[in-house]
Amino acid sequence: MPSSRNSTPATDHPSNVPQASAEPKTRNRQTAAGNKTCNREAATESKARSQQASVGSKTCSQQAVIHQVSGNAPSNVDYEAVYRDARKKLEQRLTGFRLLHSISVSDIAALMANVYGVDFEQARIAGLLHDWDKNYTDDELLARAADFGITLPEQHLATAALLHAQTGACAVAREYPELPACIIQAIARHTSAAPDMSDLDMIIYSADMIEPLRSQSSLQPLRSIAGKVPLEDLFLKCFQTTLEHLIRRHRFIHPDSLLVWNTYMARARNREAGTTA
Ligand SMILES: [Fe+2]
Ligand SMILES: [Fe+2]
Repeated sequence: MPSSRNSTPATDHPSNVPQASAEPKTRNRQTAAGNKTCNREAATESKARSQQASVGSKTCSQQAVIHQVSGNAPSNVDYEAVYRDARKKLEQRLTGFRLLHSISVSDIAALMANVYGVDFEQARIAGLLHDWDKNYTDDELLARAADFGITLPEQHLATAALLHAQTGACAVAREYPELPACIIQAIARHTSAAPDMSDLDMIIYSADMIEPLRSQSSLQPLRSIAGKVPLEDLFLKCFQTTLEHLIRRHRFIHPDSLLVWNTYMARARNREAGTTA
């Protein structure tokens, strides 16, 4: 089974369909999930990424969440129990389509995980939980972010809706402290992404876009390459499609997204230079 960035998966991505709610509690239990990780590979990646993060390539809002991702010993998580519990809670937290979308992302993320050699259960849970805070308004998200201690530079206010990723990650870490940090990170990065996406991060980002309940025709080319190209290529195509969509519709772009794009482009240039030298 091929894994990750440079391997090409063997199977097509399938299509599945499926079906998600409210709870605010208190604050600052963000670190609850901070000392768990996924598997050895993820732990290694996570460490490298934490080091990069400390170089200052992330904004305050992401750092607040990624701060949780330190990672030590793997833990025994009953993913099936978490899935069942989360499904029930999401039915209260999310309205109709959003619930169905979350389940669909979960299904697709699990399938993609199998194809790309990523932990199937972690992808399934991260997919299900990725929009945990999606039903909040911008004002509610801003208040929630403040409660979680997420600081927000002024230029990020125009994209407050994207905060549901960071606040959702904090809330999920509080709700399910047994979950490994890689799942929390994947939830936190599913809107604006990050310059150092893990395989699980890229699966959740991409699955969020290509899940079959989304009807936009512009997604069809992405679906057609899912499972056939290396995971990083799929992620970058999805990311590019998002940026193009935002520009076409004269929407704001999250400042982090420019950093992400430039980082990946610089890496591609370096790779090209390396192969032609
Ligand atoms: Fe989302
Ligand atoms: Fe979503």
